[in-house]
Amino acid sequence: MIDSHCHLADDAFANDLDAVVARARTAGLERLCVILEGGNQAEAAQAERLQRLWPEVRFAVGVHPHQAHEFAADPDRAVSVVLEQVGTTPSARAIGEIGLDYHYDFSPRDVQQAVFRGQVRLARELHKPVVIHTREADDDTLRILREEGGGEVRGVLHCFTGTLALAEAGLELGFSISIAGIITFPKAAALRETVRRVPLDRVLTETDSPFLAPVPHRGKRNEPAFVGRVVETLAELFGVDRSEMARRTAANFHTLFRP
Ligand code: NI
Repeated sequence: MIDSHCHLADDAFANDLDAVVARARTAGLERLCVILEGGNQAEAAQAERLQRLWPEVRFAVGVHPHQAHEFAADPDRAVSVVLEQVGTTPSARAIGEIGLDYHYDFSPRDVQQAVFRGQVRLARELHKPVVIHTREADDDTLRILREEGGGEVRGVLHCFTGTLALAEAGLELGFSISIAGIITFPKAAALRETVRRVPLDRVLTETDSPFLAPVPHRGKRNEPAFVGRVVETLAELFGVDRSEMARRTAANFHTLFRP
């Protein structure tokens, strides 16, 4: 099993990182991709700790749309910060999470777009995949991916909760769709219907820890060990057994993020 998206460098795990990693390994996770906020020194230090604890851990580095406002005066600086950090993080495999969030609008939309655009361009230059966060911004997200990706940039729509139209547009761009614990929620019937229509070779699994704990852990801090609930729910949805789903989604991850 794989957790393709978690925030283990977050403060929420600072006090018991060893135990969280131990539980993930016991649960049968073979690899994680940990999302790092570009330029965040505290997270970078915790990332080094993680790498020592578990050499199999991989990283994505990016400036999140919520954080984009820090670069309002000079969006290009977001790109240099990410480029530098990718260079000093040997296990960095992706640029992310990056994208647009018009739900919270924590950063002005033109700044979000400039910062996002620059990072997609960077991913294209570095031949690295992107991890996309998009909320209530589907059209602009897809437009920028098309304009800057030029058909070359691959990646993943993370914590997918969108429409079938968004899933189809992402698939057409060559993207994968990553499913988090929301798929286990009783009210997520529409999402389960959409996900059922995604080809199995484009499905990834994630927790988005410490957020969004799946049933039956809802309301608690989420952690990578809980990704098994996502795998089980997907297995039921696609009518394959749990080990087969774990194997398939792990293979999809390795294809996209390379070893
Ligand atoms: Ni995230």
